[in-house]
Amino acid sequence: MTAELRLADLLGGLSIACDLGFGLPPEEAMRSCLIATALARRHGLAEPEVADAYYTALLMHVGCSALSFETAAAFGDERPVLEAVARTNVADPEDVAGTLMPAILEGKSAGERARILSYATSPEGLRFGHDFDTGTCEVASATARRVGLGESVARALKEAVEWWNGAGPPDGLEGEEIALPARVARAAADAARFDRLGGTGAVVHALRQRSGGILDPSIVETLTANADELLADARTGDPRDRVLEVEPGPVIEIDATGLTDVAAAFGDLADLKTPWTHGHSAGVAKLAATAAESLRLDARSASRLHLSALLADLGRVAISNAIWEKPGPLTAAEWEQARMHSYHSERILATSEALEPMARVAGMHHERLDGSGYYRGCGTRDLSPAVRILAAADAFHAMTQDRPHRPALEAEQAAAELQEEVRAGRLDGDAVSAVLEAAGATRPRRRDNVRPGGLSEREVEVARLVAAGCSNPEIAERLVISRRTAEHHVQHIYAKVGVASRAGLALFAHEHDLVTETVSR
Ligand SMILES: [Fe+2]
Repeated sequence: MTAELRLADLLGGLSIACDLGFGLPPEEAMRSCLIATALARRHGLAEPEVADAYYTALLMHVGCSALSFETAAAFGDERPVLEAVARTNVADPEDVAGTLMPAILEGKSAGERARILSYATSPEGLRFGHDFDTGTCEVASATARRVGLGESVARALKEAVEWWNGAGPPDGLEGEEIALPARVARAAADAARFDRLGGTGAVVHALRQRSGGILDPSIVETLTANADELLADARTGDPRDRVLEVEPGPVIEIDATGLTDVAAAFGDLADLKTPWTHGHSAGVAKLAATAAESLRLDARSASRLHLSALLADLGRVAISNAIWEKPGPLTAAEWEQARMHSYHSERILATSEALEPMARVAGMHHERLDGSGYYRGCGTRDLSPAVRILAAADAFHAMTQDRPHRPALEAEQAAAELQEEVRAGRLDGDAVSAVLEAAGATRPRRRDNVRPGGLSEREVEVARLVAAGCSNPEIAERLVISRRTAEHHVQHIYAKVGVASRAGLALFAHEHDLVTETVSR
């Protein structure tokens, strides 16, 4: 591992996951970053604010996969819905009716259309956009802090979806109350999107429609007055290289610990996509690291294995929650999509120079020795010791978590299943033994007397259920308490932790390792 790594290289590569999770084509966040940086300078921002606009644009959608669960439950496949939101002027009811709703209803059955229309006009449905933005901004802001960006970027990501006219979520900030880098990044995101959809003319038209409503009119003026130059520049070259070229100084470098922190943050984000996978990446990484140590993997391979394990399921964000949360067997076409998540993980990691060494191992975490795995279907000769450990750790940890189509297995049952995989020639015997030993060594988990956020043991239980997507009535039923008590607990937990959304609480639970124990939804 090199001593000096550039944060922009990591975040540029990982921004592909943000694109895919929002139903957007790869590299849109990077193009948006290029526009935001040049626009910020053209608009006269000081260099520290240019840097804030740069990172805000790059990470604009970093929190969005955390709300995929709610979005898919309300509207079905969340990716086309989010993509449609991105090209809708959500401050204009006519555009919502003419652009967003047709995209949400497209391809749905008559019954499903009726359900969605009924939901969309219910009090809960009318609050959906507000709740979505509150949750995604909380997660984006917290992620900025986790990866080592300053408070000003965290603030800008919190405020990036506020409307200039003060009518927007999450806090109804108005005009210059909204951080200037956030206003620049928001305009740049729209510019990148409409440039892809229709070129300069479409950008100018869309931004003028949003001027004074969502967007700052003075920034729209700067952007439209210089549209040809700004957009042509952002279209030029490979965005991966260009993002590094235009990074405002001083360039942010991180060490190996910082790299692990970034990988852990993005692994958690991928797991937040659905409550079924909470804690999976961190759990697999812990098992794999311990197993690698007992198998005496060399230090470089062990380090790369740990990072690969944290990021192996990043590609899940590119696949719909309708598939991840389907309670019954997947169809052949759905299974084909699910298998593609390891391909997406590999391609996302390969976009970053620093993460590229982890791409191949991460992309092989579902491979099997007999060639029956995916996505390559390669066999014994191609599977390095690191891949064998990762495959065993991933299989064991997944078996011990609930999935929509089956309950979690007890550790002993999962161990027996893994041994059967060894006998069948699919998993490596040494790797499985080391993983099972690691699983034994890592439990029972030690519990601190003082819980994070000052939560009581009961509140930790409630927090884990909220993070897992349980409603207040479900929590009341699970814990055999009244609904009123459940609501009371939830309100107190939100206040103690300082969040206002399930997604924000789920991220807090990930960060503080509260989700490792299995939660049955
Ligand atoms: Fe996976």
